[in-house]
Amino acid sequence: MKEVLKVKNISKKYQAENGEVEALKDISFSIKEGEFVSLIGPSGCGKSTVLSIIAGLEEKSSGSIEIDGEIGYMLQKDSLLEWLTIYKNALFGLEIRNQKTKENVEYVDNLLKKYNLYEFKDKYPNQLSGGMRQRAALIRTLAIKPKILLLDEAFSALDYQTRIMVTKDIYDILKNEHITTLMVTHDISEAISMSDRVIVLSNRPAVVKEIHKIEFEIENRTPLNCRESPKFSKYFDTIWKGLDVHG
Ligand SMILES: Nc1ncnc2c1ncn2[C@@H]1O[C@H](COP(=O)(O)OP(=O)(O)O)[C@@H](O)[C@H]1O
Ligand SMILES: [Mg+2]
Repeated sequence: MKEVLKVKNISKKYQAENGEVEALKDISFSIKEGEFVSLIGPSGCGKSTVLSIIAGLEEKSSGSIEIDGEIGYMLQKDSLLEWLTIYKNALFGLEIRNQKTKENVEYVDNLLKKYNLYEFKDKYPNQLSGGMRQRAALIRTLAIKPKILLLDEAFSALDYQTRIMVTKDIYDILKNEHITTLMVTHDISEAISMSDRVIVLSNRPAVVKEIHKIEFEIENRTPLNCRESPKFSKYFDTIWKGLDVHG
């Protein structure tokens, strides 16, 4: 499979009031088309910084990034616009890019229909459940047909029950639509349950400590059924031991 994102030797130093903060040190990894990769690491180690640099929102101090195409970015807060209907929210990215073509609008209509939001399209975000909002936010992000989707702790504001269900819904959409994804999370189980690979970062300054390939011998793997596999807890133990959170 083709590599759609190449991150090479990225370093980042922030200039803070009380001196320099070294956030990232020589980070390298790549992601293949259709892959789902998670980035985990201790709080404050530099995970969000990696995504911000890939998205072009933050300058890198050195290194290079190769990506061909647009980037979709989804944060913890779904950032739906409360004064717009779900439909207008879903079309918002296309609107501001001046890409509201018939074909693109049809694509959004189809996503809304396929993922059970079409009948709610004239509602406002505050009339929807947390899970539905997250699906709507994802559809808005996918409307611009990003080459790669970046998720930064996108589910951590949801309560546990909702989070488990939303994870499954989002996973279904991403797999059905063949979206390549890089997800930041501090939740080891969430990472294992969704990913093809898990990249473990060290404490700040973050370096790539380990990369784990996640495979389950399950037909139609989902973030729910893989949790039942004995391999799940093995992956959990291995990754947990590799995380710099043990003092
Ligand atoms: N704009 C900034 N200026 C100065 N320091 C920053 C800035 N953004 C992040 N940092 C620091 O860089 C480190 C990594 O932050 P971040 O990437 O947000 O970590 P994570 O997402 O892993 O919790 C932290 O110590 C944070 O305080
Ligand atoms: Mg963060």
